[in-house]
Amino acid sequence: MAFRSVRRIGDPVLRQVAQRIPPEKIGSEEFRALVDDMVDAMHEEGGIGIAAPQVGESVRLCIVELTVDNDRYDDDQSFELTVMVNPQVSVLDEEEQAFWEGCLSVPELRGLVHRPRKVRVDYLDESGTPCTIQGEDFFATVLQHELDHLDGVLFVDKIRDTRMMATVEEFEKHWIRDDGDQNPVV
Ligand code: NI
Repeated sequence: MAFRSVRRIGDPVLRQVAQRIPPEKIGSEEFRALVDDMVDAMHEEGGIGIAAPQVGESVRLCIVELTVDNDRYDDDQSFELTVMVNPQVSVLDEEEQAFWEGCLSVPELRGLVHRPRKVRVDYLDESGTPCTIQGEDFFATVLQHELDHLDGVLFVDKIRDTRMMATVEEFEKHWIRDDGDQNPVV
């Protein structure tokens, strides 16, 4: 049971630029408690990623956990539970792609968002070790979506054509992909 509830769009904490976490704080009791609460909240709400501002803490920390059982993706494009502290994104391929996105902080809504198709993220893991991951296709979108939260940006800000917004119910009725797959909530 999470002790911190998920903040929803309209809560000012979601619009703040989050603070870097001093490396000496990584691994502290307070840090570990925050990570645990974020994981609990993400699992409770069925998300594949969560950022600290979404549980009311304006610090640069996010978590992704994404395993897609889909032939479209290679196994090496799945993320085990990954904790990213002070992450920095670099675009590796500026070619754009569009995916329908959702967000735990924007309930009941989906929107088509264009983003670069390949990125690298440099971050510190939960023990303070420098790490790098690369993401392509939907995984690149998930990473960029989570990192946007640390700068006060929500996916709705990036919907270019507001006609490409839908409630979850209407999305499933009218916009689901031909293969029956749908994008999970990030
Ligand atoms: Ni989100």
